[in-house]
Amino acid sequence: MGDTMLEIRNLSAGYATAKGFVRAVDDVSFSLGRGEFLGVAGESGCGKSTLAYAIMRLLRDNARIESGSALFKGRDLAAMTAAEVNAHRWTDMAMVFQSAMNALNPVLSVGEQLTDAVHAHRSVSRAEAEALAAEMLALVDIHADRLKSYPHQLSGGMRQRVMIAMALILKPELLIMDEPTTALDVVVQRSIIEKIEELRRRLGFSVIFITHDLSLLVEISDSLGIMYAGRMVEYGPAAELFNDPRHPYTEGLMNSFPSLTGPLRRMDGIEGRTPDLLSPPPGCRFAPRCRYARPTCSAGDPPRLEPLGGGRLSACPYPRRGEAYGCAPAAPAAPEGGSL
Ligand SMILES: Nc1ncnc2c1ncn2[C@@H]1O[C@H](COP(=O)(O)OP(=O)(O)OP(=O)(O)O)[C@@H](O)[C@H]1O
Ligand SMILES: [Mg+2]
Repeated sequence: MGDTMLEIRNLSAGYATAKGFVRAVDDVSFSLGRGEFLGVAGESGCGKSTLAYAIMRLLRDNARIESGSALFKGRDLAAMTAAEVNAHRWTDMAMVFQSAMNALNPVLSVGEQLTDAVHAHRSVSRAEAEALAAEMLALVDIHADRLKSYPHQLSGGMRQRVMIAMALILKPELLIMDEPTTALDVVVQRSIIEKIEELRRRLGFSVIFITHDLSLLVEISDSLGIMYAGRMVEYGPAAELFNDPRHPYTEGLMNSFPSLTGPLRRMDGIEGRTPDLLSPPPGCRFAPRCRYARPTCSAGDPPRLEPLGGGRLSACPYPRRGEAYGCAPAAPAAPEGGSL
């Protein structure tokens, strides 16, 4: 995918709590090319938002980057001073937050909020900022009339589009979207994702799209990263990863959500719960829930992401379905009419 936009190397980050340090991102590495669309999926609490906040240098007071680096076009974000971060954030890379559509200021019009975002970073005239605001609204299919509207006058889907317009208004090269569609119904979710994809093609920015719903990402992502308990456990080209998962967690995650377009199949989900990150289990953190686990899986350090060829990586030491990691055969797909 052309040149590298973002290179995450052995990044660890987490939270100081009264009970100890919660390492929510643990030794994560990946790279993102210019214009590439990376989907990051994993269950609640696996560290997706922490990863996004660490890249944006927006970690809360009790949070810190412990080690590793995050290179944005070769510059280490983790080592930037506060002033450098301020100059870079929102202009070079922007983020749409989890439940962002509720983050619009209720007492300011959409137009005021969009132009404020411009004025905060660029010295342009009011007319120029307003023109830019109208242009961005048009990009997300909202008529310029709506510049005068207040957030409560817009539907949830429209508010989310406004947030996307706001994130893109300074023409960033990287857009991080943290579950931007979770609160919306499935049809609106689809249309927003298609919009982001269209804008990416037109404007050429890179995307990191975070969700717990893997099925949303498959068609649209170039690459997928699957996180479990702070670790990246599988990474690779989206279609291949989806069609032939090489980590039992990926396989389980795929069986947890109905496909919007594929055939009906049984939704098995994954039994058990994600571990407490204050004291994660030894060895592979997924082993206690893995139906293929062997005794050796639960010993030593967590297995590292290892290349399998073809741009694919898996942290499962037995990454071939039906072969080594198949201590038990994968459950057969349910016949047509299986529950959704
Ligand atoms: N401010 C905080 N203080 C302490 N621990 C935190 C804080 N925020 C998050 N955590 C912990 O860090 C871990 C990762 O949280 P994070 O929000 O990054 O997960 P997530 O994958 O984004 O989950 P979700 O899908 O629910 O948004 C969790 O175990 C969570 O409890
Ligand atoms: Mg989150």
